[in-house]
Amino acid sequence: MYGYTFAAILAVLPATLAATHDVSVGAGGKLVFDPEFVTAHVGDIVNFVFHPKNHTVTQSSFDQPCVPLHGGFDSGFMPVSAETEGLPNYQVHVTEESPVWVHCQQKGHCGQGMVFAINAPADPSPKSFKAFKDLAIATNGTESSTSTAPPETSATYITPPAPHWESATATVTLGSSVWTTTYTSYDGTPPPTPAAEPVDHKVIVGADGQLSYNPANISAAIGDTVTFEFRPKNHTVTQSSFLNPCKPLADTSTTGQVGFKSGFRPVTADATEFPQFKITINDTAPIWGYCGQGNHCNSGMVFSINAVESGPNNFAAFVELAKRSDSTSSATTGTDSNSPKPTSGAVVGLTTPYKAALGLGALATLFIAIL
Ligand SMILES: *[C@@H]1O[C@H](CO)[C@@H](O)[C@H](O)[C@H]1NC(C)=O
Ligand SMILES: *[C@@H]1O[C@H](CO)[C@@H](O)[C@H](O)[C@H]1NC(C)=O
Ligand SMILES: *[C@@H]1O[C@H](CO)[C@@H](O)[C@H](O)[C@H]1NC(C)=O
Ligand SMILES: *[C@@H]1O[C@H](CO)[C@@H](O)[C@H](O)[C@H]1NC(C)=O
Ligand SMILES: *[C@@H]1O[C@H](CO)[C@@H](O)[C@H](O)[C@H]1NC(C)=O
Repeated sequence: MYGYTFAAILAVLPATLAATHDVSVGAGGKLVFDPEFVTAHVGDIVNFVFHPKNHTVTQSSFDQPCVPLHGGFDSGFMPVSAETEGLPNYQVHVTEESPVWVHCQQKGHCGQGMVFAINAPADPSPKSFKAFKDLAIATNGTESSTSTAPPETSATYITPPAPHWESATATVTLGSSVWTTTYTSYDGTPPPTPAAEPVDHKVIVGADGQLSYNPANISAAIGDTVTFEFRPKNHTVTQSSFLNPCKPLADTSTTGQVGFKSGFRPVTADATEFPQFKITINDTAPIWGYCGQGNHCNSGMVFSINAVESGPNNFAAFVELAKRSDSTSSATTGTDSNSPKPTSGAVVGLTTPYKAALGLGALATLFIAIL
């Protein structure tokens, strides 16, 4: 815990000194970015310098390396002749720590591997730069490779962004006890205030043989409980994270969170008594979970507690991610290796200092929050 915290503070320091990363585009007539990827902090600039030919610097997504990202950046075509003096450039300002995927839009270039990335996860992540380049070549510059991508969904799907965290301190009164604590909250969630009168929310697991939780997305206050009741079949209630819907939280958390797990709860078809699993809500940050049986999660058997419906990390987006994820090797693992996960208790979100102005004030706040 303390080792992690210290590392987090060290990671913030270099970000206060903005760096410029020069990248040559098509130097020597080759269809490559050089370097092919950079690691950059928020505030840094990536300076693309266009060499002769006619290239672009166009943002795309991991899943569709050669398709412009809706709303993403695009330099447009930059024709440069061999005689040109003073090569034109195009600058991208780094505003987030998460990976940014880039390609050249000129016909045939992306399909030959002319792609670039900022902050790509390292190998062997399924979302490494190499995986991205391989996918660009495999799809040969088109929207999808005919062999792997599900055709009905590949055209427009954009992976939602990683959740953004804020830390909040609150005085909590519950029954006769009063304490001050630091919560990890979430953009758009209610403040971490407890229920005036705690209530129990009941969720039926696998009602009528369906692969679903009913209701699947609920709102609950601090101090409330949620009781999951298992119906026939053999389901679980397992906590995960937004970006990795079908994996136990413990497997993807970078902050050592374990998450709750009911284990398998087999119930026979003629059962008249149904096992239950109860959790207590300690925080208003969103809680995500799934059924660990077979392909149930891929079939959309997921739930959320306190999802923020107004943001990109809403319940519908979570269901969609679950259906697209592979329970054994989630395609989304790479994107959140640096992102804090939904949590309960006093864990400070890593993105908080990045979100703040990155001055000494932000660091002081972080220290205070930790102490
Ligand atoms: C650059 O490439 C684009 C797309 O292929 C093309 O429309 C444009 O005419 C080219 N510009 C020059 C000067 O070759
Ligand atoms: C890849 O795309 C290019 C055009 O961009 C085309 O000429 C070539 O035949 C394609 N290769 C394969 C293997 O489909
Ligand atoms: C549950 O999700 C639906 C959309 O899938 C949304 O309309 C509804 O507001 C959500 N309910 C809660 C309690 O978040
Ligand atoms: C429930 O599912 C788990 C995992 O598939 C399996 O190991 C277990 O044997 C099942 N239990 C019953 C009673 O079917
Ligand atoms: C709430 O806190 C209790 C006690 O620390 C813990 O056992 C429980 O798992 C927490 N609930 C959730 C949903 O994390």
